Amino acid sequence: MEFNVKSGSPEKQRTACLIIGVSQPRKLSRAGKLIDRVSDGFLSTLIRRGDMDGKPGQTLLLHHVPGTLADRILLVGCGKDKDMNEASYLKIQDSLSTALDNIGAMEAYSYLTDIMIKGRDIHWKIRQTVIQMEKNRYHFDQLKSDKKEPPKGLRKLVMNVPSRRELSTGENAILQGNAISSGINLAKDLGNLPGNICTPTYLAEQAIRLDKTFPAVVTEVLEEEDMLKLGMGSLLSVSAGSRQPAKLIAIEYHGGDDEKPITLVGKGVTFDSGGISIKPGASMDEMKYDMCGAASVLGTLTAIAEMQLPINVVGIIPATENLPDGMATKPGDIVTSMSGQTIEILNTDAEGRLILCDALTYADKFDPDVVIDIATLTGACIIALGRTPSAVLGNHSPLVNDLISSGKKVEDKVWELPLWDEYQDLLKSNFADIANIGGRDAGTITAACFLSRFTKKYKWAHLDIAGTAWITGDKKGATGRPVSLLTQYVLDRLES
Ligand code: BES
Ligand code: MN
Ligand code: ZN
Repeated sequence: MEFNVKSGSPEKQRTACLIIGVSQPRKLSRAGKLIDRVSDGFLSTLIRRGDMDGKPGQTLLLHHVPGTLADRILLVGCGKDKDMNEASYLKIQDSLSTALDNIGAMEAYSYLTDIMIKGRDIHWKIRQTVIQMEKNRYHFDQLKSDKKEPPKGLRKLVMNVPSRRELSTGENAILQGNAISSGINLAKDLGNLPGNICTPTYLAEQAIRLDKTFPAVVTEVLEEEDMLKLGMGSLLSVSAGSRQPAKLIAIEYHGGDDEKPITLVGKGVTFDSGGISIKPGASMDEMKYDMCGAASVLGTLTAIAEMQLPINVVGIIPATENLPDGMATKPGDIVTSMSGQTIEILNTDAEGRLILCDALTYADKFDPDVVIDIATLTGACIIALGRTPSAVLGNHSPLVNDLISSGKKVEDKVWELPLWDEYQDLLKSNFADIANIGGRDAGTITAACFLSRFTKKYKWAHLDIAGTAWITGDKKGATGRPVSLLTQYVLDRLES
C-alpha cells in the first residue's frame, strides 16, 4: 500500500473518502467540526439523531456530504478522550482498516492523526498507522494452490499533518513505518514457513540475501567444522541428531562510526521435536516456530538497514534442528561449551539454551556494547505470563528498563522476571559444571540463569518470546514480535 502526508482543510480535499474521528459521547473531532460548519450542521444533526455515538470501532459511511469535495466521509468512533492511549489508537486504526476493505474507495484521506494521545506525537501516530495497516494486510498463502486475490480495496492512504512544517516529519514516519513493516513481514514469513523449507540452510540464505541487498550489511556463515574448531560442543550436541547441517550466522550492519555494536542473538531451532527427550504429539507442528527469535533478528536488521540508521548492530543466529536419531545426544551426556564450562544434558528438549550459550560466547568477539538474546525458550513462560508480554531478564537493570520502555511505546510489551542468585543453585550437576535443566520450578528463570553463566563479560538481556512469537488456534500464525520492540530500542538509543 502507498502512504502519503498532506496538510490542508478537510472540506477542500478531493478524495474518494475522508476519514473523520468522532469521540464519545457524540463529539466531533477538529476536522469533523470544520466539515460540520461547511455542511450546515450535517454531521451534528446526524450525531444528535443517534446514528453515531463515537464508540471505539464504530464506523458510519456517508455519501456526498454538502459543502465538501469528497465522494464519501467515513466517520470513525474513537471512544472517550480520557481512555485514549497507544493500544486504543491502534484498535481504532484496526477497525478503520477493516471498514476501508469493505467500501469501494481506492484512496482515502485520514484526519485521525488529530487524535490526542498523551506523550505521542504526530510522528508516532503516522508511523504506527502505517504499521497497523500493513499488519492487517498480511497473509501467508505462498504454499496454497488457491491464492487469495490481491484486495480490491484501498491502494493509497493520505494522512493529514497539522501544518506544512510537519510534512517532512510525516514523510520520515512513513519511511520508518514501511521499513518496520518489512521487518515484521519477513519475521512472520520465516516463522510461518514449515520446517522442511525453513531449514538452518534456508535461514543462512536469508542472511546472505540481506548482505546482497544492503551495502551496509556483511554476513558470515560458519559451518559445523568451523564450530568444531571453535569448540562449540554445546551447539553441536543439538545438531548431532539432525541430517540438516547446523549454521552459525553472523550479520553485521555497519551504519555508525567505530562505536560498539548492539548485538542481537536469536534462537534458530527450525524444528524442535525435543530430541531423545521427545515431545508429545499434540501441537508439535508449532515447534516449527522455534526459530522465531532468529526471525526477529533478521526482521529487525531488515528494518534498521532499510532506515539506514547511523548505528552498528550485529545479529548472531545459531541455527539447527532438534531431532532424535542414532547419533543424537542422550540424556546424561556431558558436553564442553565454547566457554570451557561442561554441561550435563539431562533433557535434550532444553536445547535452546545449549545453542544460545555458544552463540553468546561467540558474541564477545564483536566487542558488544550490549547483547540481547531473543528465544522461544520455555513453555513455562506461557504459564507464568500468558501470551501478552514477552519475559525479560538480564544482568544490567538499565538495559532491562530500556527494553521495557521501548516495548511500551509500540505495544510490544515485555515484563521482567527476577534473576536472583538464589535460583542459580537449581542448575547444580553431580557430574559437570552445570546441568541444562533446573527441575519444575521457575522454568523461565532457570533457563535465563543458565544463559547468565555465559554472559558475564557484557551487559546482557534475555527475551523469552515463547508466548508472543505466534498465535495458536484457528488463527495460527507468526506475530512478528518482537521486531517492533527491538527496532524501537535501537531508535531510542539513537535519540539518547
Ligand atoms: N522450544 C521449547 C519451548 C516452548 C515450548 C516454546 C512450547 C513455546 C511453546 C523449548 O526448547 C523447550 O522445549 N523447553 C522445555 C524446557 C524444559 C525441558 C526444561 C519446556 O519448556 O518444556
Ligand atoms: Mn525444546
Ligand atoms: Zn526449543
